[in-house]
Amino acid sequence: SDRVDLIVVANRLPFDLEPQPDGTTKARQAPGGLVTALEPILSHRHGAWIGWPGTADVELEATTTDDLVLHPLRLSAEEVDLYYEGFSNATLWPLYHDAVADSEYHREWWNAYERVNERFAERAAEVAAEGATVWVHDYQLQLVPQMLRRRRPDLRIGFFLHIPFPPAELFNRLPWRTQILAGLLGADLIGFQLPGGSRNFVRLARTLLGVPSNGGELQWEGRRIRAGAFPISIDSAAQSALAATPQVHAEARRLRSDLGNPRKIILGVDRLDYTKGIDIRLRAFGELLAEGDPAVQDTVLVQIATPSRERLQSYKAAREDIERTVGALNGDYGRIGRPAVHYLHQSLPRQELAAFYVAADVMAVTPLRDGMNLVAKEYVACRVDGGGVLLLSEFTGAARELKSALLVNPYDADGVKDALRTALTTSAVQARRRMRTLRRQVLTHDVDRWAAAFLSELEGTRDRLAEAR
Ligand code: UDP
Ligand code: G6P
Repeated sequence: SDRVDLIVVANRLPFDLEPQPDGTTKARQAPGGLVTALEPILSHRHGAWIGWPGTADVELEATTTDDLVLHPLRLSAEEVDLYYEGFSNATLWPLYHDAVADSEYHREWWNAYERVNERFAERAAEVAAEGATVWVHDYQLQLVPQMLRRRRPDLRIGFFLHIPFPPAELFNRLPWRTQILAGLLGADLIGFQLPGGSRNFVRLARTLLGVPSNGGELQWEGRRIRAGAFPISIDSAAQSALAATPQVHAEARRLRSDLGNPRKIILGVDRLDYTKGIDIRLRAFGELLAEGDPAVQDTVLVQIATPSRERLQSYKAAREDIERTVGALNGDYGRIGRPAVHYLHQSLPRQELAAFYVAADVMAVTPLRDGMNLVAKEYVACRVDGGGVLLLSEFTGAARELKSALLVNPYDADGVKDALRTALTTSAVQARRRMRTLRRQVLTHDVDRWAAAFLSELEGTRDRLAEAR
């Protein structure tokens, strides 16, 4: 059959696939940064992708597109409940993001997490050719490396975590902490966004499982494993080229005029998630409006908040808070036909998003915690004109690379307000100086470089293994 040499295993496929009554399948770009980053690199390499098509109970055959082989894995409604919404997004997600929301711990969720991880491992074992490379992704599938190795010791197995890996004080709360570490240790190479995440992992493996380590080299069950930092990125050249097209330019001009040709446009683009600090930037903008600060005179804020994980209570609460705040700001400071905040609770295609990036004078990225944040990098890549100001939370992975952004502590309300004022009043010369440095960083550190670094290191782990035998 269609056994291939590079296989990505991730909870989601790059497309949400929905069977239609007429027998065809509708495909839509799946949400989130994981898909944005991986889709181009796997397409360039003509790999295979195992993942969930995004809707419960949907059973689909493997399909081959021009660039990719897709292996949809069906999840039952109960699995979506317990494994995806439960353990992945109500236990792990908040805990790994510095516990910015409370986690819940339920044995039934954990049991489902184990069962679903087994199913992903089984599928990968079926699909992978002898000696193939299998690259497992993110917090939903931390047990897959071990489960897959048991079935297929011939494979080269990599794992990459897209979200932060927490310190012991938080990780130790997990009743299943040792199982998760052992699950990850099934990989030959374990990648994290930042060196801090990698260090947290190495220390925990030592203290909880007694794994000896030397820097990023670990030893476990007679194998050598590497852990390290691989900050993910975007297809910078493609994003930049998209922003330079006449269509995107025309669209950006049209947006500006649709917004009533304001003096300044502030933009936020996020999944509607409580980690993203959408409320924080709205409140900072609101305070400047309340004070009648000249910086926000004739300024609009555009917030695109993509629907996400909507059945979870914490996401419902975040949405209610955001929408109440938007309503209050418009009630207090809008005029007929001229709202202060333009709010879209929608998912936009990349092309449209690029026009927003090009139109925005200030990009506000204020998460309380974020593994990387690709939106920040997309904004930079889109500023082919060399203008625009990026306001960036210091608690994003991106802040470690984008040091010339206006960095803010999102917990410091006054600090965010001051930074927003600074962003709106900074001189064009100063803004261009910062943007030039940011662009150099993003254009030279793209997702191809990230993938090449990870995959070559993964190959190296195997060579060392061969030498050791
Ligand atoms: N995105 C999109 N349409 C939208 C909103 C977001 O395509 O309406 C994309 C955005 O371009 C980016 C990704 O979703 O590539 C979000 O990635 P990020 O790393 O910023 O955050 P995540 O959602 O993964 O937490
Ligand atoms: C983040 C996670 C991804 C996830 C994405 C969208 O980027 O790291 O693993 O796919 O958010 O979230 P969703 O729950 O809709 O897959």
